[in-house]
Amino acid sequence: PSNPAQPDNDKTQSLESHVETPAGEMMTTNTGLRINDDQNTLKAGDRGASLLEDFIFREKITHFDHERIPERVVHARGAGAHGVFRVYESMSSVTRAQFLGDPSLETPVFVRFSTVAGSRGSTDLARDVRGFAVRFYTQEGNFDLVGNNMPVFFIQDAIKFPDLVHAVKPEPDNEIPQAASAHDTFWDFISIMPESSHMIMWLMSDRAIPRSYRMMEGFGVHTFRFVNAEGVASFVKFHWKPLLGVHSVAWDEAQNISGKDPDYHRRDLWDNIEMGNYPEWELGVQIVPEEDEFKFEFDLLDPTKIIPEELVPVQRIGKLTLNRNPTNFFAETEQVAFHLGHVVPGIDFTNDPLLQGRLFSYTDTQLIRLGGPNFQEIPINRPLGVVHNNQRDGYMRQTINRGKTSYNPNLLAGNYPVQAKASEGGFTSYPERVDGRKVRARSKSFLDHFSQARLFFNSQSDPEKNHMIDAFSFELGKCITPAIRERMLGILSLIDQSLAAGVAYQLRLPVPPDPALPVNHSMPADADPADYDPIMV
Ligand code: HEM
Repeated sequence: PSNPAQPDNDKTQSLESHVETPAGEMMTTNTGLRINDDQNTLKAGDRGASLLEDFIFREKITHFDHERIPERVVHARGAGAHGVFRVYESMSSVTRAQFLGDPSLETPVFVRFSTVAGSRGSTDLARDVRGFAVRFYTQEGNFDLVGNNMPVFFIQDAIKFPDLVHAVKPEPDNEIPQAASAHDTFWDFISIMPESSHMIMWLMSDRAIPRSYRMMEGFGVHTFRFVNAEGVASFVKFHWKPLLGVHSVAWDEAQNISGKDPDYHRRDLWDNIEMGNYPEWELGVQIVPEEDEFKFEFDLLDPTKIIPEELVPVQRIGKLTLNRNPTNFFAETEQVAFHLGHVVPGIDFTNDPLLQGRLFSYTDTQLIRLGGPNFQEIPINRPLGVVHNNQRDGYMRQTINRGKTSYNPNLLAGNYPVQAKASEGGFTSYPERVDGRKVRARSKSFLDHFSQARLFFNSQSDPEKNHMIDAFSFELGKCITPAIRERMLGILSLIDQSLAAGVAYQLRLPVPPDPALPVNHSMPADADPADYDPIMV
């Protein structure tokens, strides 16, 4: 680490064997040949043309020419840190995950915070969602909790994700604006996607301009599943609660900081870890017994809904401490490949259609971002334990597999890897009962888009409500197409009249008396609207 006083753990120690320290060493080529001069090309005569023979020049330039990899398609801008996690008391009554069952275990973690829309070099203080991705290097394998600093999401089905991201990213003709949602394509999409109403309220709130990564909450968003050693399952929502509290900047401050120090959050995280001000979060869980699945007014599988804490309190079950900066940004923060499909026994998925789609997307994008099927061998991605399976070869393979066989079943080799029983730590998917017709449709239980948006607005103090009205007015004021502003005022009036009136006043527009209800593009062309969206009935 940049500061040797920062604590080591099993994972950071495992990275050490890959660390190169140049001080006092002779310069070499990649094949280990000592270099006598890397500042002058080999030439034919003093002023002569450079020679193709110059392998030292060619190696140096070729490597440089290939230094860049694609940035993440979303969450490109981020900052990471190492740390540890420890559970306060055993959670074995609800999950058989070992790292949550044993308070004596300290689990190494790597965390990456990010913005979503901006490119790698964009400002930290954009009004945006923040990614909050945590990898636990457990004894049973890597568990990734790939969350955000807001507890809900824009869309209910992953098939809409490319549309959402195409709408929010810079517009395709001129690549404007960088890292901001204040533009036509984003608000056009949102204004005809009523399921985004709840998330939009969070995005226009002060939560979207955090004071520091150290002062943000984190959320797993989806409902996940815990399963205990007896096979009993419960639903679980994950939370991170910062011990420094939740703090934001004001919009005017955010704009100032973006000009003066676009690295503000990255610098704040780095400097505080260097100074030994290790940021801490408590892991919270809301647990719902399986038999209570249908007891709520909303569907637990709907990622645009929270479980209000009044209904199911958040239990704080353990603590995360970030205590060590990465040694090398690219090797660690850029090459880390989080995926909510990286689970350990005792943690499982639900049928949330956003979650289900994410299970496909992350590995798929990492295959291209990190150059092929062996990215799990990159040091930051390796689990603590040794990997044994019959996967072989591919670009940049690092492992040297011994033996002739790479298939299962196998009677030739006595030593081929064997499958683990559940009692030996083998992962078994929860045998949830599933039944029904194959349909391309949205569940009717997903159709209340406004109650929780309203709940969120009403939970804000008056100054916070004013900040939201200002944020909507600023953002919609940047939209060029008048119809977008009018449609959004219609949506806002379905959420809260005072909110709609406040924004309408600032935009110098009337509040629509009987809002034009958005066209619901989420239903098939031949569907009966009444079956699909209550706001259209
Ligand atoms: C990246 C969170 C929905 C696709 C990320 C990252 C986070 C995140 C935190 C950055 C990880 C890092 O720091 O490396 C979430 C949350 C979601 C959500 C909380 C909703 C609850 C989706 C959906 C899709 C998706 C629906 C696609 C169907 C991606 C992709 C990346 C990404 C492709 C880039 C990953 C990489 O290049 O390594 N997401 N996301 N996300 N997300 Fe999501």
